[in-house]
Amino acid sequence: MHISDSMVAAINDQIKAEFDSAYIYLAMSAYLKDAGLDGMSHWMYKQYKEEVEHAEKFINYLYERGARVIIPDVAKPKETYTDAIEVFKTAYAHEQYVTSRIYKLVDLAVSEKDYATQSMLKWYVDEQMEEEDNTGGIVSKLEFLGGDKHGIYTVDRELSSR
Ligand code: FEO
Repeated sequence: MHISDSMVAAINDQIKAEFDSAYIYLAMSAYLKDAGLDGMSHWMYKQYKEEVEHAEKFINYLYERGARVIIPDVAKPKETYTDAIEVFKTAYAHEQYVTSRIYKLVDLAVSEKDYATQSMLKWYVDEQMEEEDNTGGIVSKLEFLGGDKHGIYTVDRELSSR
């Protein structure tokens, strides 16, 4: 069955959102590196790579459906943060925003009876649950530690193994 123009446009828009996410996390990685938090910087760098993969997965899906892919401009990300907690809180909120975007795509696919797109999006629904859990979990840990430097460095070491 032919994929609709509105679905193609919505997925192209999501490709942009995934590349924007990648840049946000790459900028966070650079900030954390500068702050001497190498483990957290490494974790964010991996997150950046994952977001590029998310974009590529959508690109390949549109190719499979014979649809036109538009490679987007990427928005300039925020460069500085107050501290590591603010970084991870922002990442957590961003993941919640991305989840809401994925749900809107599912709503559109359902309304159009586009079963192939619904099936493809299931992977993203599951992935978002995991990403919210990961970022939210780190926020909880950092909030529990407050400003305790020793604890923060322990979390930093932990995150270096991602
Ligand atoms: Fe591609 Fe983190 O959502």
